[in-house]
Amino acid sequence: MAAPLKVAVLISGRGSNLQALIDAFGPEAADSPVKIALVLSNRPDAPGLERAAKAGLKTEIVDHKAFQTREDFDVAIDREIRAAGAEFVVLAGFMRLLTAQFVTTWKDKLVNIHPALLPSFPGLDTHQRALQAGVRFHGATVHFVRHETDSGPIIAQSLVAVRPGDTEETLGARVLQTEHRLYPLALRLIAEGHVRVEGERAIVGGQTRYPENVLLNPMSPTA
Ligand code: GRF
Repeated sequence: MAAPLKVAVLISGRGSNLQALIDAFGPEAADSPVKIALVLSNRPDAPGLERAAKAGLKTEIVDHKAFQTREDFDVAIDREIRAAGAEFVVLAGFMRLLTAQFVTTWKDKLVNIHPALLPSFPGLDTHQRALQAGVRFHGATVHFVRHETDSGPIIAQSLVAVRPGDTEETLGARVLQTEHRLYPLALRLIAEGHVRVEGERAIVGGQTRYPENVLLNPMSPTA
């Protein structure tokens, strides 16, 4: 087996996606294609830090408030990521905008999960905006990060049917459940070498693996 992909997971809060990654790839996981080399938070009080510590993972806090500029903060996190030996960066509820310099340095080695079917609903309050727009399907997206917020080549998406009477909370909870399956799935595809970027599209594993491995479909019996 090839050496595992060493990743840094960046968080700011609750860390439920981090937990899904720990469950899939943490120290307890056998033959994991991914190794979590670092969990970094910009907030000292992020509950996700406890999840990481409990799993025995290396953690670092780089408090953005201690830096004058975004550039200085990004240089500091870049240093920590490299010091931990990570070669890939996973944003999991990381609530800081990254500089062009950082995004360029980590191009195609930097992924994010967004709680909507991009390119619809980039930004915040995605569930509320989806309900307001009256869409029938909503979901989540894992994508490579580009400079514009919540943009970049799409790797995998999960689909959630909107139900009559859904609220921001009920819809958001179902989307989050799919995120917890989607992020480990997408990261595994990357770590195993099944994802490449051509132009500004992410191509996954040739025609035969698509779409079953990158689309969680609520209409399918296994979803
Ligand atoms: C998730 O909804 C994710 O899609 C978004 O931020 C939220 C993070 O939640 N980017 P958690 O901290 O992983 O629980």
